[in-house]
Amino acid sequence: MKVIITENYDEMSQKAAELIIDIVKKNPSAILGLATGSSPIGTYKNMAKAYENGEVSFKNVSSVNLDEYVGLTADHDQSYAYFMKTNLFDHIDIDQKNTNLPSGSAPDCQKECDRYNALLDEMKPDVQVLGLGSNGHIGFNEPNTPFDSVTHLVDLTESTIKDNSRLFNSIDEVPRQALSMGIKNIMQAKSILMVVSGKNKAEAVKGMVKGEITPALPASVLQLHPFVTVICDKDAASLL
Ligand code: F6R
Repeated sequence: MKVIITENYDEMSQKAAELIIDIVKKNPSAILGLATGSSPIGTYKNMAKAYENGEVSFKNVSSVNLDEYVGLTADHDQSYAYFMKTNLFDHIDIDQKNTNLPSGSAPDCQKECDRYNALLDEMKPDVQVLGLGSNGHIGFNEPNTPFDSVTHLVDLTESTIKDNSRLFNSIDEVPRQALSMGIKNIMQAKSILMVVSGKNKAEAVKGMVKGEITPALPASVLQLHPFVTVICDKDAASLL
């Protein structure tokens, strides 16, 4: 696991975007595994800037996202589909037909998980972007999710609901369930890029980088992947 410590969020975002852009320049039809949340927003801004400056094209890139809330349609402003459109896809030349997320409004969750797993068998990301939950989750794989899990329906923990409530009008509006790639799906990516910032993540970063490899801290599984780059700011790295 390669750990790069940056001064702040902006430097983290710049470096993360450079890494992704480099992959796309080398392989213009790369598959990008993408995440939502606050952590990658700056990365996506820098990718959009590089596209606007003519440095890179995402025309032939395709993408798979980690997760989606259950019960929100793609046009709901808190859905992850909406997040991806407004934070990245609308600002680059990716063909939106080639972008994929689990559907949070599918009538049959299990069928939707099966569809997504079959898709992921065909589409192994060249790089999977991840953020880190303060409880060590990756995707919505909460503590004690088995390492061999694939895309599944998740009951979100109170701590995740609380963390995510900042984006909703009230905590009651936060969906209680999500569909998430499993840990096994995530580990099948060819490389992994974790972006993480802030003091509230420091404990989880420590466990991920040098703690015991245990489902109690899902991100610790990344110690078993051969190509992981963690880009974290000083605050998140403060316990390393
Ligand atoms: C998002 C996701 C989550 C977040 C994590 C960190 O698609 O799967 O695991 O990456 O909750 O969220 P932020 O970046 O908002 O702190």
